[in-house]
Amino acid sequence: MKKRIGVLVSGGGTNLQALLDAEKAGILKSGTIALVVSSKAGAYAMKRAEEAGVEAICVDRKTFGSREVYEETLLQELHNRDIDVLVLAGFMLVLSDSFTRAYEDRIINVHPSLIPAFCGDGFYGLHVHERALAYGVKVTGATVHFVNEITDGGAIIMQKAVDILEGDTPEVLQKRVMEQAEHIILPQATELLCADKLKRDGRRVTILQ
Ligand code: GAR
Repeated sequence: MKKRIGVLVSGGGTNLQALLDAEKAGILKSGTIALVVSSKAGAYAMKRAEEAGVEAICVDRKTFGSREVYEETLLQELHNRDIDVLVLAGFMLVLSDSFTRAYEDRIINVHPSLIPAFCGDGFYGLHVHERALAYGVKVTGATVHFVNEITDGGAIIMQKAVDILEGDTPEVLQKRVMEQAEHIILPQATELLCADKLKRDGRRVTILQ
């Protein structure tokens, strides 16, 4: 039986689009994108979901006081739709220990750097690329990892390197990292997760054949 995938988003949703395209192309075949949840009202990602015929709901973080109540609502929405696995695709909230434990080893995130470089609190979206350029690294990339209570701290599943080129701006670099790394490894890792091919032992993840 195909896994029912919930994709959590907060913004433009190019990674969501890569997942939708991968399902259409048969690259993502062991799971089906059953629900998209946005933490922000008006996120363009919701439009992408609707255009693909996927249910999209907004659980707006702004309308909730405490993180606890927010996460309980989120979990309820996921349980109501029998969501098996979660993919964070540009989801800009940090999830608590109790939330991530509810989906232990069934929740993954894509981050736009080679973890452990340029990650953790305050490193998200364009800021990650600003910091990489400011530091002067010659190579960056993207990482897909399991999500635990530590920001960007879960076990690494896949990484892909991307060259930094002369004259790069944060925007240009972000686009290259998305196109050459994120949009490739996120669908691949999602398929492996849905096919039960990821075995985690502490921090080490093995891909089963
Ligand atoms: C992506 O680059 C993603 O890796 C990053 O935000 C962007 C979202 O773009 N996520 C993080 O920084 C999370 N720490 P998208 O909405 O077009 O997929």
